[in-house]
Amino acid sequence: MIPLVTVDPVIGYVDEPVDPSLDLVEEIGRLKREKNAVLLAHYYQEPAIQDVADYIGDSLGLSRKAAATDADIIVFAGVHFMAEVAKILSPRKKVLLPDLNAGCSLADACPADDFAAFKARYPDHVVVSYINCSAATKALSDIICTSSNAEAIIRQIPPEQGIIFAPDRNLGAWLAKQTGRNLVLWDGVCIVHQTFSEEKLVRLKVRFPGAPVLAHPECDETVLRHADFIGSTSQIRAFAREDARDTFIVATEEGILHQMQKDNPGKHFIPAPPEGGCSCSQCPHMRLNTLEKLYLCLVHEAPEITMDEGLRLAALRPIERMMAMSAGVQ
Ligand code: 13P
Ligand code: SF4
Repeated sequence: MIPLVTVDPVIGYVDEPVDPSLDLVEEIGRLKREKNAVLLAHYYQEPAIQDVADYIGDSLGLSRKAAATDADIIVFAGVHFMAEVAKILSPRKKVLLPDLNAGCSLADACPADDFAAFKARYPDHVVVSYINCSAATKALSDIICTSSNAEAIIRQIPPEQGIIFAPDRNLGAWLAKQTGRNLVLWDGVCIVHQTFSEEKLVRLKVRFPGAPVLAHPECDETVLRHADFIGSTSQIRAFAREDARDTFIVATEEGILHQMQKDNPGKHFIPAPPEGGCSCSQCPHMRLNTLEKLYLCLVHEAPEITMDEGLRLAALRPIERMMAMSAGVQ
């Protein structure tokens, strides 16, 4: 029997004390088994959450898992737009997000009403939107993409076809450079990837000559121009596994270093530093999820992601197009 709780929408998570003597890792494992729940986690989650997850991946991998799971409950250790995608793809599952406040600066930068007005200025253009946006913005889009499949998708659009790309201007500018296409860009950025310091990165390159720079395409061009490899989180992880060198500079949220270090115990991973005094690069949204909130979310099966069916169907169409256009992409 589930103890009923109401999640205050202003607070956004189950706000109650957790018995400090509980072994949360064990309790989360027990609840997952008892409730037939699957725990999907993004690489930017804190290491303790990654260690209890059933699957850790990038946005494309997580979407594929959410669509394919036969679990009754999907607990999404990630941010709101990711849990929304899980609900869109698996409407009959209960989808839980430990903290509803876990948003994304890119999604916030592209409100659907403003985007609709922007889109109306380019009536002949196809709209390709990065998955880091709300369900309402997805519903205004023709094709969704992630950082893994964006280039492959743009290349499948006929060369004479105009394209709007939203909401990440850095990813969009990088795609335009890669494909030679003239993309109309929405002006959004990720607060984490936008703040890596070019100057500090160059100093690191001098200190560690020969260490390749692995960067996420959400980074600013001033950082991307120093990168030896640019890809999604899963692609960055795979590159480090396959490359024979022993030291790497990594320009993305530092949570990914946990899996990279586990994959390659003998290699060294150096996080690229952001501007300002801090040497850490943690996404403040992703890091709202904690083991305690995860535990309470499984106990009470809340907060739950719910969605109007009309909106879900409208957002599903461009996601299904993405899935069809990225069959071979890892
Ligand atoms: P990927 O893990 O798909 O590369 O995306 C990174 C990101 O910023 C997720 O919010
Ligand atoms: Fe959004 Fe950036 Fe955080 Fe990813 S790292 S969830 S893009 S704010």
